[in-house]
Amino acid sequence: MSKLSLDRILQAQGFGARKWCRKLIEDGEVSIGGTKVDDFRTEFETNNLVFSVYDDEWLYREHLYIALNKPVDYECSRKPSHHPSVLSLLPEQFSHRDVQPVGRLDHDTTGLLLMSDDGAFIHAQSSPKSHIPKVYVATTHEPVTDELVSKLLGGVKLNDEPAPLAALVCNKLGEHQLEIVLEQGKYHQVKRMLAAAGNHCTALNRAQIGKLTVATLGLDEGEWCYLSPEQLALLVSA
Ligand code: URA
Repeated sequence: MSKLSLDRILQAQGFGARKWCRKLIEDGEVSIGGTKVDDFRTEFETNNLVFSVYDDEWLYREHLYIALNKPVDYECSRKPSHHPSVLSLLPEQFSHRDVQPVGRLDHDTTGLLLMSDDGAFIHAQSSPKSHIPKVYVATTHEPVTDELVSKLLGGVKLNDEPAPLAALVCNKLGEHQLEIVLEQGKYHQVKRMLAAAGNHCTALNRAQIGKLTVATLGLDEGEWCYLSPEQLALLVSA
């Protein structure tokens, strides 16, 4: 349990510098339980605290754990070069909380992207030691053959990688569609593995991380949600 003054609460939740948060409060833009609170020194218990800023309601969250169904033409970078950042799809105050994508998807890859401001969580999820499987659906230029599937399962050699990389699982889904499950997260890994196996990836979607799927989250492209502790528990290796 921890009590904080209202200006510190707003600052911790990403609403701006302390001075700005005090102004918001003194201007009467902040309410708790339907009542305006205009003294920034008033302290509140943060656990389960619901507060409103400009009539939008927020739950106090010590850390943010977010799933986004990433659309094409967004970059997983805080300083994007050619397309908008995935952070622009989230409420503005989240970027003041140092929310970052967990790993990266290419600008033209769609699907499940985790984001958080919890460094330990980001590290645990993106560490090569985590072995958390990621399920991709790739559309290919050339038809999917048994030989392609065998090569991907057997391992292909990529430039700059000392050992061949293999898919954990690889299934033909259609004439030009393949499900491929990887536990590493090397740069452009799916596209490079397909190229090394003699095909070309024309579209890529990440459908699942661990046991968490975009389908069960029910997110349309561009939509995001907070992850519950039960959903976070699905981000496991086996
Ligand atoms: N592999 C790729 O080639 N691109 C991605 O975005 C993710 C995995």
